[in-house]
Amino acid sequence: MIRTEGLCKSYSHYSRHEVRALYDVHVTISKNSFVVLNGPSGSGKTTLLNIIGTLDRPTAGKVFLYGEEITTFSDIALARLRREKIGFIFQDFHLIPRLTSWENVSYPLIPSGIGFRERFERAKFLLEKMELGDRLDHTPEELSGGQQQRVAIARALINNPGIIIADEPTSNIDEDTSTRVLELLTELKSRGVTILVTTHDFHFEKIADVVYKMKNGRIEC
Ligand SMILES: Nc1ncnc2c1ncn2[C@@H]1O[C@H](COP(=O)(O)OP(=O)(O)O)[C@@H](O)[C@H]1O
Ligand SMILES: [Mg+2]
Repeated sequence: MIRTEGLCKSYSHYSRHEVRALYDVHVTISKNSFVVLNGPSGSGKTTLLNIIGTLDRPTAGKVFLYGEEITTFSDIALARLRREKIGFIFQDFHLIPRLTSWENVSYPLIPSGIGFRERFERAKFLLEKMELGDRLDHTPEELSGGQQQRVAIARALINNPGIIIADEPTSNIDEDTSTRVLELLTELKSRGVTILVTTHDFHFEKIADVVYKMKNGRIEC
């Protein structure tokens, strides 16, 4: 489902030394597995997730998603793949400030030309599932962190992605919502979704199929 070969990533700055964030990373993640990636801050977790999730490109190496080498795709092809096949959940939610909950959730449907009524119904369905049926018309600033993260999860699910990538999804939310996020991810796995999550929360590690540890840009085990 997800495979990387010899992935390297360097960040270079004009006046400073280059930072090597990933060294020769090989991972294989089978379909429908729940994979946790942990490791200290700065070890390269976000960089790896962003490259696997097509938000960033490697300096060297290859990424295969759904059996295809995506490293050669154009930016437009990657944007489409990302929108249709991958759901993202970020640590700081990444909601669009002036849009309401349902507008945020249905936003990824706009490029597919889906009409207003269907967009609204699909967003409403997911927000009700997230117990936010009474917050459809609220903007992010009117919601708590835990509620914003549930809106972000609904948005990640709107295109029924086969892969969910979550970067420290519970570090900015309360414990009850964290438990709910874990339940939701577990439920998605039971429906066949492949899950890749970075977290320091041991509850996630307990239910993971695989735990990878990163250190200094490498996978340790
Ligand atoms: N956009 C960037 N420009 C320069 N250096 C970066 C950038 N993003 C990350 N880095 C560096 O790459 C390394 C890995 O960062 P990151 O992937 O964010 O680690 P983690 O998510 O494990 O905390 C760090 O040394 C970080 O400073
Ligand atoms: Mg990170």
